[in-house]
Amino acid sequence: MSDAANPLRDVQDRRLPRIAGPSGLVIFGVTGDLSRKKLMPAVYDLANRGLLPPGFSLVGFARRDWEDQDFAQVVHDAVKEHARTPFREEVWQQLAEGMRFVPGVFDDDEAFENLKATIEELDKSRGTGGNFAFYLSVPPKFFPTVVSQLKKHGLSDGGQDSWRRAVIEKPFGHDLKSAQELNSVVHGVFKPDQVFRIDHYLGKETVQNILALRFANTMFEPLWNRSYVDHVQITMAEDIGIGGRAGYYDGIGSARDVIQNHLLQLLALTAMEEPASFHAKALVTEKLKVLNAVRLPSDLGKHTVRGQYAAGWQGGHKVQGYLEEEGIDPESKTDTYAAVRLEIDNRRWAGVPFYLRTGKRLGRRVTEIAVVFQRAPHSPFGATDTQELGQNALVIRVQPDEGVTIRFGSKVPGTQMEIRDVTMDFAYGESFTESSPEAYERLILDVLLGDANLFPRHQEVERSWEILDPVEEYWDEHGKPEQYPAGTWGPQAADEMLARDGRSWRRP
Ligand SMILES: NC(=O)c1ccc[n+]([C@@H]2O[C@H](COP(=O)([O-])OP(=O)(O)OC[C@H]3O[C@@H](n4cnc5c(N)ncnc54)[C@H](OP(=O)(O)O)[C@@H]3O)[C@@H](O)[C@H]2O)c1
Repeated sequence: MSDAANPLRDVQDRRLPRIAGPSGLVIFGVTGDLSRKKLMPAVYDLANRGLLPPGFSLVGFARRDWEDQDFAQVVHDAVKEHARTPFREEVWQQLAEGMRFVPGVFDDDEAFENLKATIEELDKSRGTGGNFAFYLSVPPKFFPTVVSQLKKHGLSDGGQDSWRRAVIEKPFGHDLKSAQELNSVVHGVFKPDQVFRIDHYLGKETVQNILALRFANTMFEPLWNRSYVDHVQITMAEDIGIGGRAGYYDGIGSARDVIQNHLLQLLALTAMEEPASFHAKALVTEKLKVLNAVRLPSDLGKHTVRGQYAAGWQGGHKVQGYLEEEGIDPESKTDTYAAVRLEIDNRRWAGVPFYLRTGKRLGRRVTEIAVVFQRAPHSPFGATDTQELGQNALVIRVQPDEGVTIRFGSKVPGTQMEIRDVTMDFAYGESFTESSPEAYERLILDVLLGDANLFPRHQEVERSWEILDPVEEYWDEHGKPEQYPAGTWGPQAADEMLARDGRSWRRP
């Protein structure tokens, strides 16, 4: 078949490693926590896996009096401490040659002119071809300033033969109105396909596996609906407190920090219809459709709960409560635990509750999606035979112990007919020899390739705020969060919320 007649000629074989073309990455806020712990190591790991072009360049922008070599030393230390793959001197040397540092604050015009000159120099010396991604790893209040400065200094448009992209960290706004305002600033500078909003959960292998599990198999999808599913529980539990992030966290809280983005994205992937393809547009269409069908219950007092951790014990240590943490207003009403019940008004899910919960200082660090099935409509076994039989469940373990568990009843060996719950397990660590890349590795590579599949679009972000805003407003007007001892599974009201529905939370 001639090339022109071959309908697959433009289709890239996605089994092959995808390697970024000539390009560079500019990180704003390069001295920050995220940059040191995640971004710098991810860049090194990509280079180590041979996924970056030979002339790849990394530019740091921050208010420090550093030379290029000082910056390279900081990256070196961060890589040594946090990289996933082994340190190899030859990879490091090649990467270090393309490192530049631009000192400055965000409203400093001269610094942005220096940045422009640095990019031009890199195009000449490293062959970056004018292709640059700008990673805004900065406090959210500076997103508009940095975006506007990029436009003002002619950095947001690479011209005809090169690309410019903006990567924006979370949180994207703190309610619908602020998200819309930010979107309008960003879209005044960048076209929609130039903007990559980070929800790092979408970069996790296990989250992408939700789509593989559902749409690459035949045995799950027939059960994935209201005829068989009793309810779905989506949990992101942390055992840590707020650490040194009081300034960021207080006033934001767990629902805005986690439910608005990570948990609603997990819900969308779990509940959406099969997309026409795995291209960004088709995925967004389906995610948005299901998010648009999400409905909050009318009685928010009964179907939402917020809590705040009090002093308690965790891992054998006594830990202080949220209100005693350094930098927290002792009168703070910020939630460190949030649970909501959502319904999805469509044919597949009508009447099936989706319970979302997140919290800090809970019993264990775990993120999972549990699809809990209805009980068998009739049991031929006597009640005494099935004492320990629960409901069938399929649990996608997002982290840690990444994998999938299926729970079902099985006969206990012996002469009598006793049935008990057992589990069947798939664990990434056992089935595959490759270790999973860090989410940020995948996402940075996707940005350099211009692949937007794993990045929420502005409509999704706005719709998610639209879902959460009424809950936050209700909480603002009604009392305070309930205290729960650190190391437990959250406030009592959360257990009561499910008990009223005749259900209980999983204790992972
Ligand atoms: N850390 C995480 O694990 C995490 C997770 C998810 C999302 N995020 C998001 O990622 C972004 C960065 O977070 P982070 O934890 O790395 O924050 P961070 O540790 O507070 O770092 C913020 C960075 O911004 C710089 N900066 C602040 N004000 C500046 C100004 N006026 N001019 C120039 N530079 C300025 C800081 O420089 P100085 O060193 O000079 O102060 C620092 O490099 C935020 O949007 C955050 O919400 C972080």
